[in-house]
Amino acid sequence: MKVIYTVADLRSALATHKGEQIGFVPTMGALHAGHLSLVERARKECGVVVVSIFVNPTQFNDKGDLAAYPRTLPADLELLSPIGPDYVFAPSVEEVYPTPDTREFDFGMVDKVMEGASRPGHFNGVGQVVSKLFDFVEPHKAYFGEKDFQQIAVIKELVRQMGSPVEIVECPIVRDTDGLALSSRNTLLDEAHRAAAPHIYATLRAAVERKAEFASPTEMVAWVEEEINKNPLLKCIYFEVVDALSMQSVAEWTNDCNTQGCIAVQCGSVRLIDNIKV
Ligand code: PAF
Repeated sequence: MKVIYTVADLRSALATHKGEQIGFVPTMGALHAGHLSLVERARKECGVVVVSIFVNPTQFNDKGDLAAYPRTLPADLELLSPIGPDYVFAPSVEEVYPTPDTREFDFGMVDKVMEGASRPGHFNGVGQVVSKLFDFVEPHKAYFGEKDFQQIAVIKELVRQMGSPVEIVECPIVRDTDGLALSSRNTLLDEAHRAAAPHIYATLRAAVERKAEFASPTEMVAWVEEEINKNPLLKCIYFEVVDALSMQSVAEWTNDCNTQGCIAVQCGSVRLIDNIKV
């Protein structure tokens, strides 16, 4: 496992692997078992594995959130070492953005709702960094966790627009034993909020179990919001039942519809997201 800090060094390292399948796991560090499951899968499927660790400033609409985001490179490298990716790319902000990135993406409908609506500019920043990283690494396959369900839809649209041949591999959410979806942000929760947070997934599961009781998705949405807000430490930012491809809210239950319930919850100072197949 070699740690690389510059684009030039990354390109020359990868040039020695002509003809090999490159698997790429982009991350913002503060790695947990969810990230490691992506790296393990890439390791099984690809001859060369690259992990990037880069806290991308352009996807944070809240500067306080960017400042608070955990940065734990030495611990991350220790976690990655036993899995053995070939390269860990950990560039500086100047290396990724030698000049400001002024590109504005139009992802159509998929980025206008949920995370896109509640975090203006977030997905544009994700598009900027992911397109640059794909350009540096030129992966055959790139691995993303389904916790960021809408992000996967945005990245698929980005790849479509770029005409890039990279295959986007979606990987299941990894949860703690109490059901909380693993997230780098979980480390920012104090004891009381960490104890409250599993209520999010418990509520999503209960909603799906009771689906037959809800005449429409709107009724399910109202129930979930109320149930989350019953806990004084949680505040539901949104819960939406959406078409799993278009990310648009569904108005009624249909048998052939592939729907996902997506939620964002303010848990003290930490914003948590999760989702479930409905
Ligand atoms: O999901 C993340 O950690 C980030 O949004 C990503 C894809 C690494 C881009 O910064």
